[in-house]
Formats: sequence, structure tokens, C-alpha cells
Amino acid sequence: MAGLTSSTIGRKYAMALSAMFLLIFLIIHLAVNLLSVISQDAYNGASEFMGYNPLVQFLMQPILGFAVIFHFIMGFVLEIKNRNARPIKYAVNGSSANSTWMSRNMIISGLVVLAFLGLHMYDFWWHEMDFKYIQGNTPDEARFWPELHARFANIGRVIFYVVAFILLGLHLAHGFQSSFQSVGARHPKYTPVIKAVGNWYSILIPAGFIFIAVFHFLTQ
Ligand code: HEM
Repeated sequence: MAGLTSSTIGRKYAMALSAMFLLIFLIIHLAVNLLSVISQDAYNGASEFMGYNPLVQFLMQPILGFAVIFHFIMGFVLEIKNRNARPIKYAVNGSSANSTWMSRNMIISGLVVLAFLGLHMYDFWWHEMDFKYIQGNTPDEARFWPELHARFANIGRVIFYVVAFILLGLHLAHGFQSSFQSVGARHPKYTPVIKAVGNWYSILIPAGFIFIAVFHFLTQ
């Protein structure tokens, strides 16, 4: 691990691996949350499983927490190192001639997602920890759907979530294909396919989350 994070190439590689892990997490997270618009019972059942299965709670969740924190810290480290390595700004930057807005502003879209995660952890994760481990309540499968539904009664929260999901989409639009490049997956035949999948991923995943937030708001 120390070897991976001590050189710029190693850091980019480790950053890409954490990104790929989070890309997979987002698919699973979206799939579970989509159940909340299909069936209350299915969502409650899936949440009960995720919330009380020891493997998910004590292995997957800590790994996920580590990946999220690692990704953000490494993002800042790479940004600072890049800035220091380039004391004189590129003569042509800020235009679409040599890069996209998304690739130049990963730190901005990342910071918005980080702010979203702060509120999101407070909304859901902290509530779970409090319910289970601080208050020590016994499991109650029927509570999950009403709790999620109630979070989206507040228009301010829904707007903030939707803005964050749009910025998440911009972050993913560059991040998806960039993570493949960083691990050396470059090939004249496969790179266009990776780019196309990345474009669809960065539209469909945030659109799915937006749909869930708006659905719960409109069905209050
Ligand atoms: C409408 C959209 C979303 C809904 C309804 C939602 C719902 C939830 C719920 C209910 C939990 C609690 C799980 C638990 O601890 O029992 C959770 C945790 C979490 N969510 Fe979301 N989420 C949404 C979008 C997102 C997005 C876009 C991200 C990432 C950018 C994200 C990242 C996380 C993380 C990292 C956790 C902690 C994981 C864990 O507790 O195991 N969520 N979310």
C-alpha cells in the first residue's frame, strides 16, 4: 500500500482502483434504492438484510467507508501535487481545446459530492447507527421505507440532492474513463467502448437517483 501511494503513478493507480470499487457500489446502491419505488416490502426486506447481515455490516461497510475516505483524500493529494508541479498555468487552459470542463474541475464536482455525502450520512447512516447501536432498538423491518420516504418531504433537501446528483454525473463522466486509463487499460478497439459505457453510466446512474428523490417528494 505504501508503495502504491508513494509515487504519482502509484497514487493515480490506487485512486483509480478506489474509483472502480465506488462505481460498482453505486450500481448496487441504486438497485437497492430503486426497490423503494417498486415495492415497500421488497425495499424493507433488502434494507433489513443490508442493515443486519454481519458480513455487510462488519466487512463490506468498513471497506466501503475506507474506499470513500481514501478516494477523497487521494483526490486532494493528487490535485495539490498537480498544482505544485505546474506553477505556471497552461497558456491554453479553460478552453475546450485541450480538455473538457469535467476533467479540469474534478475537484469542484468532487467537493459537491463530498458535501452531499456529509448530509447523506447524517440523514441515513448516522440515523442507523443511532437506532441500532446507541439506542439499542430491536430490529423492525417495517421502519425502513417510511423513514426513507419521510426524508424526501423537504423540498430544500430534494433540490440539494438533485444538484449533487447532476454534479456526480459530471464527476463520473470524466472519472469513469479516466480510471480505466490510469490502470493502463488503453486499446484502440476497447477505449471507445469504455468511453461509451462511461457516458451512459454517468447519465443513467445519477438519473436513477434523481428519479428516486423526485418520486418520494411527489408521492408525499
Ligand atoms: C436518492 C438517492 C439515494 C438514496 C435514497 C440513498 C439511500 C441510502 C440509505 C437508506 C442509506 C443507509 C444504509 C444503511 O446504513 O443502512 C445510504 C447509505 C449510503 N449512501 Fe446513499 N442513497 C442515495 C444516493 C447516494 C449517492 C449518490 C451516493 C454516493 C455518491 C451514496 C452514498 C452512500 C454511502 C457511502 C452510504 C453509506 C453506506 C453504508 O451505510 O453502508 N448514496 N444511502
